Amino acid sequence: MTKIHVACAEKSGASKFLPDLFRCAALFLLLVLVSHAPALAQATQYPNVPPVLLGAAWYPEQWPESQWDTDLDRMAACHIHLVRVAEFAWSAMEPEEGKYDFAWLDHAIEKAARHHIVVVLGTPTAAPPAWLTTKYPETLRVDEDGKRAEHGNRQQFSFTDPKYRELARGVAEQMATRYGHNPNVVGWQLDNEYADPDFGPSAQTQFHAWLQKKYGSIAELNGLWTTTYWSQTYDTFDEIPVRASKENPALELDWKHFVSDTWKSYSQNQIDGIRPYADPRQFVTTNTMGWFEGFDHYVVYSNLDIASWDDYIREPVYDPALNGATHDLDRGFKHKNFWVMETEPAFVNWRKTNNPLDKGQIRETAWQAVGHGADAVEYWQWRSALNGQEQYHGTLVGPDGLPVPAYAEIQQVGAEFEKAGAALSGTTPHSQAAILENYDSRWAIDFQRHAAAFDPVEQLISFYRPLRQMTQAVDVIAPDAPLDEYKLVEAPALNLLSQAVARHLIDYVNHGGNLVLGPRSGMKDSYNALYTDRQPGPLAGLLGAHVEEYYALENPVPVSGEIGSGTSQVWAEFLTPSDAQTHVVMRYGPSNGWLDGQPAVVTRKVGKGSITYVGGWLDDGLMNKLTVS
Ligand code: GAL
Repeated sequence: MTKIHVACAEKSGASKFLPDLFRCAALFLLLVLVSHAPALAQATQYPNVPPVLLGAAWYPEQWPESQWDTDLDRMAACHIHLVRVAEFAWSAMEPEEGKYDFAWLDHAIEKAARHHIVVVLGTPTAAPPAWLTTKYPETLRVDEDGKRAEHGNRQQFSFTDPKYRELARGVAEQMATRYGHNPNVVGWQLDNEYADPDFGPSAQTQFHAWLQKKYGSIAELNGLWTTTYWSQTYDTFDEIPVRASKENPALELDWKHFVSDTWKSYSQNQIDGIRPYADPRQFVTTNTMGWFEGFDHYVVYSNLDIASWDDYIREPVYDPALNGATHDLDRGFKHKNFWVMETEPAFVNWRKTNNPLDKGQIRETAWQAVGHGADAVEYWQWRSALNGQEQYHGTLVGPDGLPVPAYAEIQQVGAEFEKAGAALSGTTPHSQAAILENYDSRWAIDFQRHAAAFDPVEQLISFYRPLRQMTQAVDVIAPDAPLDEYKLVEAPALNLLSQAVARHLIDYVNHGGNLVLGPRSGMKDSYNALYTDRQPGPLAGLLGAHVEEYYALENPVPVSGEIGSGTSQVWAEFLTPSDAQTHVVMRYGPSNGWLDGQPAVVTRKVGKGSITYVGGWLDDGLMNKLTVS
């Protein structure tokens, strides 16, 4: 019998109200009994700690060792069973090049173990020490405008620089040699929140080599990038600008691909330092940032063992659907349970106004994470550092080491995790509906939004929200992921559609699947070039219709049809059916003249399956009706 997680927090309705644990448990048990779907992942299982872990980011190097036991006692009293340590502690572990000091870390890990607290070790490479950047200034990142970073902040390194990679691997290897078999170390977090790429000399050479490998000849690249446009034609790869913006969209897309591959190889460099010395039971991950668009997360996670993300509430106000979708996105990276490696203990320090979560929402968000498949929820950070850039950030204890108000709520969560852990062990969410997330499409739209308000994430959420309400479980997955298990697959704005993915989707529909495409789908090929077939390009035949024209909207336009009436905002495409079997579900009302009376949503049955195209960004009410229809 298979058990499944359920999204209890959202199930409980309004975000103001806490999920009642027992209601969740009852719902959970009910679903246990009715579900026969295979579990995809195992919850964490370590000796002496519960399967669902409550944790905190702990920086012992910032405090005298004489205070560590007091901190750890308070963590244990809070039911904390996990700490992440050592990320950013490079200067403490390697105070001089090649001279290591791990005595303090030995003690910290040992003391944590005595408190039944397991450890994730962070490699410290997001914060290179001053000796390193002084001696090897070439390891400092250069931004797109040619400015080199300086010491004193973090993430100032170049991800391509060979010297930086050598030193990063060196410290990772030393750590693994020492802790790779430590029973209290359960995993590794590489670096911290991969973000800014480098545009310096090493990046330039590597980007050109990367392009050469991809295209083979400059003529091939010129053809696929349409470089005859504005005399962009290149004679050699070295002539190609190394830029991320204000360029040919084909170049911009390949830059993103290069950055994704480079972060992957940046990880691999450290994995190669760790794996030979680490027990296979120790996982390797990196903590990413939800919908961050800087790289393709499916690529970057492909050589890591689990996904983990830092759940900082995206909006000033907690939006359960948006946050839930982000958990689902992260679960989709490895198609199994994930960790929340960081989350806020009530508030952060980097928004315009750092308003706190409401009382009760710390608990709500923790359970929401577990409901969506998190096996660990870890707060950033345990205790305020006395100085440094983040003095105002929320914590569990203050600089005096004594609990702040959030502590009690987190303690309650910890007690509940201990109680519910055994029941949740080995469970994972299971869904029959999926939403496709595609970085190429997001980037392509972001490069040329055409309507500034067309935010691809918000648009995806407009599809997610009603589906979530209806099914209580949605998978967010890549378009080339296996689709057989889904009754419904939605692609909110699949702007770039490779021939391979098009074939995959056609197979899905031909085998009885129901595919819904959102606006801007099927417009471009894998090189960000326009298809010569109108949207949805390679799927237009299956749909029996094509997009006649697209319009960016200043104001919403009316839409109505058999499922009701409402509006389309930001974007409107009208469709022309070409097949007698293609059914018009909705039409635009009187608006800008071009759209008046034209088809806005069309659908076509294909055997037991179907394909539907939604040409507008429909309002929530209409999306609800469309989803249930
Ligand atoms: C994260 C980062 C942490 C801390 C936190 C503050 O993005 O990984 O180190 O800075 O933000 O909210």
